Amino acid sequence: MDHSKSSTSLREAALRALDNAYAPYSNFRVGAALRTSDGRLVTGCNMENSAYGLAICAETLAVASAVSQGLTGFEEIAIATEDSEPTPPCGACRQVLNEFAPRIRISSYTRDGKEASWTLDELLPHAFVLNQSRGRM
Ligand code: THU
Repeated sequence: MDHSKSSTSLREAALRALDNAYAPYSNFRVGAALRTSDGRLVTGCNMENSAYGLAICAETLAVASAVSQGLTGFEEIAIATEDSEPTPPCGACRQVLNEFAPRIRISSYTRDGKEASWTLDELLPHAFVLNQSRGRM
């Protein structure tokens, strides 16, 4: 696969974040890396808890970390897992991404080099947006 330099570094950042995943309960480890509109990289990994429902996904943690740094414009997110096939983001993470970047490009990578890409619009058509719903009432 011929990666552009920038998508290669985003993929590598997601793979590095994967090394920090804290997933002792599911053993499903995930890393994520966001590229912001001003070219910065912000990473996240999944973080589980012995109270299972408190698990935070890698993508949501990356978005939260970026927002905490005042960064809210996102161009692209890379996801990395140890699964045999590239994993798309879960439904909740799609909604989180939609809040800030409805046009974001999403790429997912496995450790052994498989890749899949989508736009958020493909994965979350008809996203919930509070003001739009109000407008229809
Ligand atoms: N997980 C993510 O980090 N991102 C997703 O998009 C799907 C699921 C995590 C949550 C949990 O720690 C583990 O994967 C298994 O669901």
